[in-house]
Amino acid sequence: MNNSPNPRHYLTVSDLSTNEILFLISRALKLKKLYKSGQPYRPAMNKVIGLLFEKPSTRTRVSFEAAMLQLGGNVTFLSSNDLQLKRGEPLKDTAKVLSRYLDCLVVRTFGQGIVDELARWSDIPVINGLTDQHHPCQVLSDIMTVMEHKDREMRALKVAWVGDGNNMAHSWIQAACRLGFALTLACPEGYEPDRETLNRAQSESAAPIILTTDPQEAVETSDVINTDVWASMGHEKEAAKRREIFAPYQVNDALLARAKTDAIVLHCLPAHRGEEISEDVLEGPHSVVWDQAENKMHLQKAVLEWAMQLEGVVSSPCALDT
Ligand code: CP
Ligand code: NVA
Repeated sequence: MNNSPNPRHYLTVSDLSTNEILFLISRALKLKKLYKSGQPYRPAMNKVIGLLFEKPSTRTRVSFEAAMLQLGGNVTFLSSNDLQLKRGEPLKDTAKVLSRYLDCLVVRTFGQGIVDELARWSDIPVINGLTDQHHPCQVLSDIMTVMEHKDREMRALKVAWVGDGNNMAHSWIQAACRLGFALTLACPEGYEPDRETLNRAQSESAAPIILTTDPQEAVETSDVINTDVWASMGHEKEAAKRREIFAPYQVNDALLARAKTDAIVLHCLPAHRGEEISEDVLEGPHSVVWDQAENKMHLQKAVLEWAMQLEGVVSSPCALDT
């Protein structure tokens, strides 16, 4: 139990300042180096986090679990089907009770209002592990991956988003605003990102955030190309219709040829080869998706450390201090 009057929730990228984002990414890079060195680092001993997941997950679940175990702590996985939530217990009561047992709660659910409500009543940090509207941890590990592969500051890069104006697109929009990099999103008509999220970011960002329907325009001279599934979790019934509408938005060799020659391709995964991304691009030399997936674990460590305020809880001097 880590009850605090002001728990550090992480619900959307906009919750963080520019400095906090840069801090978390630089911390994740250090934690990655430490992990690779084989030196143990266990600041979370005696801490327990809960993962309350209402949607499937491979990467987010396992990366948070591995991250917490490597930090020396414990994890309990809470499938919503097995909780009293399923039988109507209010989110408020769930949050209050879980706060008495746990030190942090990672939530994957449908509406953003659900994580907001849990955070409102929780005395422990609540971390958004994906909602219909946002995927804020994912975008930080994506940007960490970009920073590893590009020897330039984010604000010197041109980023393209190709496909659905979904949760990932929203988190990228908020990140572009905070970090001041140029972002062009190519989405089919009717599948644009949320207008309010876009307008706010456009009005606050130091660099252009552009929405187009033309994927070629978006990737033209870009350094980073991002895509994601055409039918997110919850939209499975629309998959066939979306496959037709989104066909011109496939990230393939022809599209990639419009980008800079050293452009990198990101996909948060899971991928549908032959739909939003071709097999050749996913497995080709421009793809950084496997590094991107690995980096989730290092980034989740940084987020957990920050949320539970474990920074500085170091039992012995380690590579983090160098
Ligand atoms: N990228 C990502 O969040 O993957 P999972 O759905 O497997 O967690
Ligand atoms: N947009 C996708 C991301 C999966 C990690 C979804 O919400 O299903």
